[in-house]
Amino acid sequence: MSADTPAWRVNAQDTLQHTTLAPQTEHRGRVEEIGDGVAMISGLENVGLEEVLQFSGGQVGFAQVLNDDSIGCVLLDTSTAVQAGDTVHGTGDVVKVPVGDALLGRVIDPLGRPLDGKGEIVTTQTLPIERPAPSIIERDLVTEPVQTGIIAVDTLFALGRGQRELIVGDHATGKTTLAIDTMIAQRSSDMICLYVAVGQKTSSVRRAIDALTSQGNFARCIVMVAGSASAPGLQWIAPYAGMTMAEHFRDTGQHALIVIDDLSKHAATHREIALLTRQSPGREAYPGDVFYLHARLLERAAKLSPAKGGGSLTALPIAETDSGNLSAYIPTNLISITDGQIVLDAALFHQGQKPAVDVGLSVSRVGGKTQAPVLRKAAGTLRLDYAQFLELEVFTRFGGMPDGHVRDQLRRGECIRAILRQPQHQPLRLIDEVALLSALHAGLLDTLSPPALASLRAALPDALDREAQTDRSLQSPCSPALAEGGMQDDTRDALLNMMKPLITAAVQGNPPDTGPPGGHESDGKANPGAASTSEDIS
Ligand SMILES: Nc1ncnc2c1ncn2[C@@H]1O[C@H](COP(=O)(O)OP(=O)(O)O)[C@@H](O)[C@H]1O
Ligand SMILES: [Mg+2]
Repeated sequence: MSADTPAWRVNAQDTLQHTTLAPQTEHRGRVEEIGDGVAMISGLENVGLEEVLQFSGGQVGFAQVLNDDSIGCVLLDTSTAVQAGDTVHGTGDVVKVPVGDALLGRVIDPLGRPLDGKGEIVTTQTLPIERPAPSIIERDLVTEPVQTGIIAVDTLFALGRGQRELIVGDHATGKTTLAIDTMIAQRSSDMICLYVAVGQKTSSVRRAIDALTSQGNFARCIVMVAGSASAPGLQWIAPYAGMTMAEHFRDTGQHALIVIDDLSKHAATHREIALLTRQSPGREAYPGDVFYLHARLLERAAKLSPAKGGGSLTALPIAETDSGNLSAYIPTNLISITDGQIVLDAALFHQGQKPAVDVGLSVSRVGGKTQAPVLRKAAGTLRLDYAQFLELEVFTRFGGMPDGHVRDQLRRGECIRAILRQPQHQPLRLIDEVALLSALHAGLLDTLSPPALASLRAALPDALDREAQTDRSLQSPCSPALAEGGMQDDTRDALLNMMKPLITAAVQGNPPDTGPPGGHESDGKANPGAASTSEDIS
């Protein structure tokens, strides 16, 4: 070849030389039917379950159902561009998503493509969306606490790293808010948070993102959105894709928290796909594998053993009930898969008791060992006291005349109820919760009206910070010593002494005539019977 041969020719000849010019076989199928994001394909053999299929127009989907003579393929693109008669071929690969630190602080779709307009996401590693859960040998006990910042959860059903806890309740009972507040609380912890929105309204997702950016540490969060308008295939893979991204942090010895909002919508998408691919419907028209669908997903949340790096992945799946019916198919499935549930009650929510945690139905099956020792000591018999109060309250509502001791119990119960109330997006730190509970047990809060308690709660964090700077006996709020060791009696006394002026200020700022002392602000509206009883008492 002479020296003046153009460069393109050299390249072309080079490429030709390295190309094998031999006949190649390729299996091609044909789209028989297409609609609602699902394509039925014929003539394609040797395709595996969940294998990615590519259409002649470049769109992709994955094989969800393998029949003898046809394949049900779920599209990962808008289905309008695929038409009956198009050819399809298998790619020999499964659906994979990018993982790694580059995803932090981003809003993405289930395939890891950016939705926030902040430019491309450059990662080097991709992993399949379906991966086996860690085996028993690879796991460790769930003992480290997850500080949710929600005092009702932290004191009554403490969560641990690696736990799966279901948040379940009717529409608009604060499920999303509870999960987002838990993510906001991680601004002062080492946990990485992932919020997966499946089939949610754009406005709800936007509110969640706004709350995370304004209150939380968004740089350590990932938000994955498969909105109600996106392809069913994207909604279907979203929880799995989210798990894979979170697992990457778990497997590198870090701690991650994943919120899946919500699995009822995911199950509905699964049912839709199953009906379109003509699988036989079972109970409530869901296909028979819907339990397995969620069990294999949530099984991937785990606390790993030290040999595996000691990382953890905590899962907070959300499920929506209809008129509080916990015994519907999907909620019962999820309750039996998870390690406990936080039940949110619509009636409590409408009475103004927010977060509307139903103390009787909620539970954490992991046990109290996940609770920070200092908080366990401060909480003491709170759960029992509150349960007794709820029973007593019902009793006195029917005209029972409380004597001195019972009246004290009722007043303490009202006080606990007021403490368990918490405004949205204001998670408390461990020290704040300990301070409130210590003051409660010392009887300092019994005479406070609900507004006074609210202003005390609002003023507490700043006051504690100021005190911690000057007073060495108060340990630093985020110090691991406070979480691991117990609180010494002198530290507790210092804490209580510090709170006394705050309580006085809160009482003066909210004179008792703004509400009945120790009363329940919405009793009058929600429960006239109880209001008249409290008049009887006083
Ligand atoms: N603790 C709270 N304090 C005040 N408002 C709350 C609280 N929790 C939830 N809300 C409000 O209740 C409404 C419904 O909450 P959301 O979390 O969207 O419910 P869900 O996810 O159950 O449908 C929202 O407007 C939210 O701001
Ligand atoms: Mg919601």
